[in-house]
Amino acid sequence: MTTTAPRGAGTAAPGRGTGDSGRAAIAARTLRTDRWWVQPLITAVALVAFVVYATFRAFQNAYYFAEPYISPFYSPCLSTRCEGDTFPELFTGPTWISPAIYILVFPLGIRLTCYYYRKAYYRSFWLSPPACAVAEPHRGYSGETRFPLVFQNVHRYFLYAALVINVVLFYDAVLAFRDETGAWGHMGLGTLVLLVNAVLLFLYSLSCHSCRHIVGGRLNHFSRHPVRYRFWTFVSRLNARHMQYAWVSMFSVALADLYVFLLAADVIVDVRFF
Ligand code: FES
Repeated sequence: MTTTAPRGAGTAAPGRGTGDSGRAAIAARTLRTDRWWVQPLITAVALVAFVVYATFRAFQNAYYFAEPYISPFYSPCLSTRCEGDTFPELFTGPTWISPAIYILVFPLGIRLTCYYYRKAYYRSFWLSPPACAVAEPHRGYSGETRFPLVFQNVHRYFLYAALVINVVLFYDAVLAFRDETGAWGHMGLGTLVLLVNAVLLFLYSLSCHSCRHIVGGRLNHFSRHPVRYRFWTFVSRLNARHMQYAWVSMFSVALADLYVFLLAADVIVDVRFF
């Protein structure tokens, strides 16, 4: 997102905020009478809860593998120090570094730079603005044209990495159809949990605005690119629900981790279907 000069802004320089001389002189912060603060408050509470839980689990470095399930926070597990063997181990890191740290930068990066989450946390944490027709407290506004927010533009590269991780998590879900001995033909509640989580993460990634641009952008004539047009139509349908996929997949990844955590810590036992 970049800042552009609004048409008809008169002599006011663009991007100065609501207190600029070219804006209407309204003393009240907002004329809204509804409870506009509820939504940003709920968003802030939910995001903080997720970040606290994910940080605790990422640094815990334990209870992330319960045969045949591996937590999505720790997959792909690249270090030889990993429990389980769902992915080729590539190196041995220091014991004090949790294996989750090596890969969490990618799922974290895609959510942090996601166009939907940007809107959500700009409103909830930076109050910029907190809601429609509610003045923000900041005096200036530079959009995402300067350091550090200009780095939001790396979003599409996080998307590429996230798609690779999605494939690995789907592979983990397929491996969860094996039992503790490695024999195929098992299905437990954990299998279902990992499978649903992998599908939801795919829906989140494929509904991404960058994904939509990648499959259908920079074309002058869709009629000359029928395959890309079909993909673009499909991704556009998903894109309309990107916000919902963002929230549902965030909860599903935390719940999938929690399920494996409770199994590995012997708090619960897996429900086995066959
Ligand atoms: S816009 Fe949300 S993941 Fe790309």
